[in-house]
Amino acid sequence: MATDDSDAVDPAAVDARAGDGTRTNGVSAAPSGTAADESTTGPERVTGGSRPPGEVTLDDPVTVGGTTVSNRLYRAPLLECAGNGPDAVDTLVAELEPTAASGVGLVFQGASVVTPEGGCVAPNMTRVHDPEFVAGLSQLTGAIHDHGGRIFLQLAHGGLRSQAVWHAGYREDRPDHSELAVSRPPWQLRALDRLGLVDLAPDVMSTGAVYDLADQFGRAAGCAVDAGYDGIHLSGANMGILQQFCSPLYNRRDDEFGTGPDDPPGSGGVRFLEAVHDAVRDHAGSVPLVTKVPAETAAPRFVRRHLTRADAVRVATRVADIGYDAVAPVEVSTFWDMSVVRGAYPERAWEAADMQAGYAAAFGGPLRARVVAALNRLQSRRFPREPAWNADLCRAVRDRVEVPVLCEGGVRERGTCDDLLADGACDMVGMGRPFYAEPRLGARLLGADPGTRALCESCNNCTVPQVTGAPGTCRTPSVVRARARRDRRGSYD
Ligand SMILES: Cc1cc2nc3c(=O)[nH]c(=O)nc-3n(C[C@H](O)[C@H](O)[C@H](O)COP(=O)(O)O)c2cc1C
Ligand code: SF4
Repeated sequence: MATDDSDAVDPAAVDARAGDGTRTNGVSAAPSGTAADESTTGPERVTGGSRPPGEVTLDDPVTVGGTTVSNRLYRAPLLECAGNGPDAVDTLVAELEPTAASGVGLVFQGASVVTPEGGCVAPNMTRVHDPEFVAGLSQLTGAIHDHGGRIFLQLAHGGLRSQAVWHAGYREDRPDHSELAVSRPPWQLRALDRLGLVDLAPDVMSTGAVYDLADQFGRAAGCAVDAGYDGIHLSGANMGILQQFCSPLYNRRDDEFGTGPDDPPGSGGVRFLEAVHDAVRDHAGSVPLVTKVPAETAAPRFVRRHLTRADAVRVATRVADIGYDAVAPVEVSTFWDMSVVRGAYPERAWEAADMQAGYAAAFGGPLRARVVAALNRLQSRRFPREPAWNADLCRAVRDRVEVPVLCEGGVRERGTCDDLLADGACDMVGMGRPFYAEPRLGARLLGADPGTRALCESCNNCTVPQVTGAPGTCRTPSVVRARARRDRRGSYD
């Protein structure tokens, strides 16, 4: 495999500009801006890679719920914005097949919505409630399998993060919109509603409606397995409805899906995850089932009720006991902010001329779009990328569960992957944005030396355009050019 790094865009340099700290999460790291930045062993680890023989590395196979995955590298779920039109499957094949072709063991298709209406957190998301549509995705699963890869479908519903709440154009087209809610929205969202910054029309679910929603997850899982998917991933974090069930801020229910005064935080969410698990087992049998588990450690100070890291470890332990086959613990906020996509302020994306109309439609005019951009700038100062920012949480979970633990978030270097696996932080390592930048990244990382680094700069120019429904792709020309150069040199062959 090619391991050349000679024209690498140095993420450490970008991180230094973005004020990235040197927190290491237990992964060996050198401070940005040191001589290590220039070395071929990369800026994110200083250990030499003299590993005892037999130690687990990224190249080793792993079993998830009885399914063998050929190595421990996965493509984290990323929105594809492929929609449900006649070209949806071609879009998905074009985006995901190269990743499997490059040797990546496991591809997680991005969040796909289980209901026929509502629940999308961005325009143009794919819905997977319709058996006929999902059957057509066998073209995608077949393409992944042809390369020896595995593909899991991520099932989702946005709840109070759905477009109906935040997307002005969406609301204008649907004046009678409402959105599924776990409970009455928290006061922070009600305050934004009164200021006209969001629009709340919550449809608080009855107990029966909660079971119906769990069943919709199960039915979609059944269709997915029929279409050849190897597993199911639940969008359990990123402020979607599964997190809202777990979160003390959102879940004030007093039925079996609530968290009683004597229950540990997150208990209502665990019960919903159990209902979803049971529905998946009813419709899809023993298919491998994975979920993200949120720790709401990035919540703003004014949110007192949130899931701590200890709460998240407990939730993950209970979820594994229920029968989930793997967990992906992630440190997030109680709101949709940059804690999920830590990195730089996406200046280029906000300035892009061809995006301005879409931003204005999403946020209710150009002025409001500028306010959102300003908030985004503040957020990027609070959430710079940190190498493997979920590693501590993953390690704490892995100490308590028997099932594989998946670690993603800010990982950019081969050596970091091996350190995470060797240190016992996790059993598989994932990357998200780096696969937008280099869909065939697997060819460079697998079998490579420790200093091999992804080109992605964590600049986030790919994130903001998704509010307009724009496809997931790298939007930073210097990175795209670097990829093209490597392509010409055969680095991805
Ligand atoms: C544009 C974009 C879309 C994303 N979509 C999803 C998604 O559909 N489901 C999900 O669980 N996480 C999603 N994520 C989060 C990623 O799975 C991943 O956790 C995050 O990008 C951090 O990893 P990275 O630093 O390697 O990019 C998304 C992230 C980005 C940047
Ligand atoms: S625009 Fe490209 S370089 Fe920037 S974060 Fe997205 S994938 Fe990475």
